[in-house]
Amino acid sequence: MTTALIGTGGIGSAIARELASGGEALRLSSADHESARTLAAKIGRAAVVAADNRDALQGAGAVVLALRFGVLKGVIDEIADPLAGQLVVVPSNPVGIDAQGHLIRLLPKGQSSGQVVAGWLPAGARLAMAFGSMSADLFESSSNRSPEPAALFYATDDDRAGEEVERLIRTAGFEPVKVGGVDQSSRLEVGGDLHDLVVGPAEARSLIGGA
Ligand SMILES: NC(=O)c1ccc[n+]([C@@H]2O[C@H](COP(=O)([O-])OP(=O)(O)OC[C@H]3O[C@@H](n4cnc5c(N)ncnc54)[C@H](OP(=O)(O)O)[C@@H]3O)[C@@H](O)[C@H]2O)c1
Repeated sequence: MTTALIGTGGIGSAIARELASGGEALRLSSADHESARTLAAKIGRAAVVAADNRDALQGAGAVVLALRFGVLKGVIDEIADPLAGQLVVVPSNPVGIDAQGHLIRLLPKGQSSGQVVAGWLPAGARLAMAFGSMSADLFESSSNRSPEPAALFYATDDDRAGEEVERLIRTAGFEPVKVGGVDQSSRLEVGGDLHDLVVGPAEARSLIGGA
């Protein structure tokens, strides 16, 4: 199957490599196309570079928006029409760097990024917050763990989105574990209790109710 991936930086390139190694075809897009071209060349036949963000969605069954939180809304607005009816997977964490170089949360305490992103999407888009619960290095080193796969947490309000994102998570070499609806996405993010955890599925499920 084919997935569009917009944003081919730190986490986007890691997601692309793991999905491609699991057999997914990819349509890549980035701001200036250079990082998308470099990544596609490294991945090989499974990845093509789209002409632009809208073109990335052509023929794709899902789109991963691997973008910094501050640019997400602009890209969603740019590609809004074709997003209706799509699975939209968002790994973005609502964090930035302040003038002193410190990591800061961009949303007020208690406000879930999943609910904010859901409010930006057009009607009919199916949102899953996923693939942003580990740093890129940890994500890649934990993929296809043996003998027991590592869990990858996700959050969604939509059962069909859940089934679809579970397929992508398995394709990337993890066992999917649902944390809850998009109002729970903060648990997956930097500062959340489930962020950067590498655990098996049973332990992951036991942690869900532990917050
Ligand atoms: N890096 C991690 O370890 C990690 C782990 C988990 C979650 N996250 C979260 O994932 C998000 C992305 O992080 P990142 O580290 O991957 O950021 P990044 O390395 O800065 O990559 C951002 C990507 O977005 C692309 N981009 C920017 N504006 C665009 C536009 N208008 N249209 C299309 N593409 C655009 C950039 O294109 P160019 O390449 O052309 O500049 C770049 O490929 C953040 O919210 C972060 O918190 C990151």
